[in-house]
Amino acid sequence: MNYNKKTVMDVDVAGKKVLLRCDFNVPMAKDGSGVITDDKRIRAALPTIEYLLGQGAAVIACSHMGKPVATFDSYVKKQTEKGKDPATITEEKWRKSLAELSLAPVAKRLSELLGREVIMAADVVGEDAKAKAAALQPGQVLLLENTRFEKGETKNDPKLAKAMADMAEVYVSDAFGAVHRAHASTAGVADYLPAVSGFLIQKELDFIGGALANPKRPLVAILGGSKVSSKIGVINNLLEIADTVIIGGGMAYTFSAAKGGKIGNSLFEADWQDYANEMVAKAAAKGVKLLLPVDTVCGDKFAPDAAVQTVEAGCIPDGWEGLDIGPKTVELYCAAVKDAGTVIWNGPMGVFEFAAFAKGTEAVAEALSKTDAITIIGGGDSAAAVQQLGYADKMTHISTGGGASLEFMEGKELPGVACLLDK
Ligand code: 3PG
Repeated sequence: MNYNKKTVMDVDVAGKKVLLRCDFNVPMAKDGSGVITDDKRIRAALPTIEYLLGQGAAVIACSHMGKPVATFDSYVKKQTEKGKDPATITEEKWRKSLAELSLAPVAKRLSELLGREVIMAADVVGEDAKAKAAALQPGQVLLLENTRFEKGETKNDPKLAKAMADMAEVYVSDAFGAVHRAHASTAGVADYLPAVSGFLIQKELDFIGGALANPKRPLVAILGGSKVSSKIGVINNLLEIADTVIIGGGMAYTFSAAKGGKIGNSLFEADWQDYANEMVAKAAAKGVKLLLPVDTVCGDKFAPDAAVQTVEAGCIPDGWEGLDIGPKTVELYCAAVKDAGTVIWNGPMGVFEFAAFAKGTEAVAEALSKTDAITIIGGGDSAAAVQQLGYADKMTHISTGGGASLEFMEGKELPGVACLLDK
């Protein structure tokens, strides 16, 4: 994939209306109060918005939020599939589910952060959005409603893409978290407008793209998380690129079982044992160092108050389950990080939500905070761990994309990047 894309700096936006796709899919309080619990993604969009306004553009921002069901018919179908009593499925409940995914709280927070009014449209390409977009003046910001309220969004419907494009003269994408989606607002719209990246996408392409295409070596990839099946693409791709690949988290037990180890009640994907062995063979054939845990911290149940013991890898007693890497493994992994030129980290080493099983993840985060290497943290759980532990400002780059950064590391083409103009 070509990462060398035109940016907002390469187009003249003065006096123009710019459709800006952001990823404002922010976490909200569960009580329906509309309180945003983490505004990181809104803050991440500010440099591009401020730049566009400073250049004299009028900004029409848009984003998805959550996974709303765009029509009542589909809502009925989904609720019925979930086993809900048809008598309790009402249009009122459907409308409430949509209201909870309105971008109105985002407009409020964005307005506070920008220190200027953010006009909220009641729809995406309806009468209200069109009228407000038509009246928008340079220096003003309009936020369209949740793009997924339109059923054509996730289907990448060209009619919806064109209707969005018709409101503007330039398309800027800064929604890194959504670039792995080929949706109308993330990709389709680029068929109708000159399309460039904002600063956030640019930064993600520079750091993650740079680490994958031309890393400062040795490149060490630390891969954790619960399932081999969800990390296959990343393991496979990084074995092509990295000098060392480190495996931790729940998926390590499938590797251990595949070697004939005893894993007790640990997470295990029987169908992925052959694949695990293939990856071990691939690493050997390519001369890549593949590090697997040498010891394991086990619990007698999956709970914060579980009894704890540390055993050699592959020697987990019956009735116990591996929930973290052990101290010898921590030493081994941290030594590999120390001499690295670049470290890519995706996925925790253990169940870091439970204090007794957080040490592996904490130690890796600490080692990354101390190394001179370029440190790239994939979005999702590892980004959350680094933030929670207070090491965020010690990392070179923390991705704002969960699924997007994973697919990027898998070497997949990202539709929301591929659609942008090449330099
Ligand atoms: C994310 O939160 O990872 C992005 O906003 C993408 O959301 P999605 O998985 O609902 O497409």
